[in-house]
Amino acid sequence: MSEKVALVTGAARGIGLATTKLLIEDGWRVAMIDRDADELSLASKGINGASPFVHDVSQPDDVDAMIDAVHASFGRIDAVVNNAGVADFGPIEETDFARWRRVMDTNLDGVFLVSQAAIPALKETKGALVNIASISGLRASTLRVAYGTSKAAVIQLTKQQAAELGEYGIRANCVCPGPVRTKLAMAVHSQDIIDAYHDAIPLNRYGSEREIAEVITFLCSDKASYVTGQVIAADGGFDSTGVGLPALRS
Ligand SMILES: NC(=O)c1ccc[n+]([C@@H]2O[C@H](COP(=O)([O-])OP(=O)(O)OC[C@H]3O[C@@H](n4cnc5c(N)ncnc54)[C@H](O)[C@@H]3O)[C@@H](O)[C@H]2O)c1
Repeated sequence: MSEKVALVTGAARGIGLATTKLLIEDGWRVAMIDRDADELSLASKGINGASPFVHDVSQPDDVDAMIDAVHASFGRIDAVVNNAGVADFGPIEETDFARWRRVMDTNLDGVFLVSQAAIPALKETKGALVNIASISGLRASTLRVAYGTSKAAVIQLTKQQAAELGEYGIRANCVCPGPVRTKLAMAVHSQDIIDAYHDAIPLNRYGSEREIAEVITFLCSDKASYVTGQVIAADGGFDSTGVGLPALRS
């Protein structure tokens, strides 16, 4: 078999599931990774060309087993989408070490571990890493001491990967989504937060899972063959605007 294989973490729902579906439409085969076995089993049913693998990206031994299982099943890995993430918003003084670690475990350690374990397979295919950070990694905000810091670290990790892995033909890029109405976001976005985002975002709305997936799949593809070390905000313009005063709109 020769079609390209992508490994997508956090694929049971949200942006990871939308990315899986778009990659399949584009002719890829997809290893869908998630630690939520029930949701992954439901999500993967009926997606031709995708297979579910239940693993936790924050556990080093589990990550090694995951890469072995995917390689044994598909025989190659051409792209890794490090999308699994958790959101936990809280004030600095209420963010104890356990809370901080819970966010870092998945959002930062997970990206490091999965990328690291996939390097031998990606060297064989001259493949691509696409790491999912967030606008919270580009701009600081209240309540995001752990989440925002984990995502800023993913942006820097991507640049480190691009710097070191380029000589093997491996590209590494980062997508920073703006707000999308997924389970993750809706758990931490109150109506006030939703309204404030609408005011501050030039396009005046949340993004869709599909709009984020379009950017991710482009970076996985050969169309992006000379693109590495880049950070792309798919955020309706949020990152590029300094003062988003609603009163300044006509
Ligand atoms: N939704 C947004 O507004 C938004 C904005 C910016 C960035 N992001 C980022 O996009 C990515 C996807 O977010 P989403 O909104 O689709 O979230 P989601 O909660 O809908 O999906 C995340 C998936 O990751 C899985 N997961 C979490 N931790 C895991 C682990 N340790 N191992 C394996 N699987 C794990 C969950 O089970 C879930 O299925 C995350 O990295 C998130 O931080 C989302």
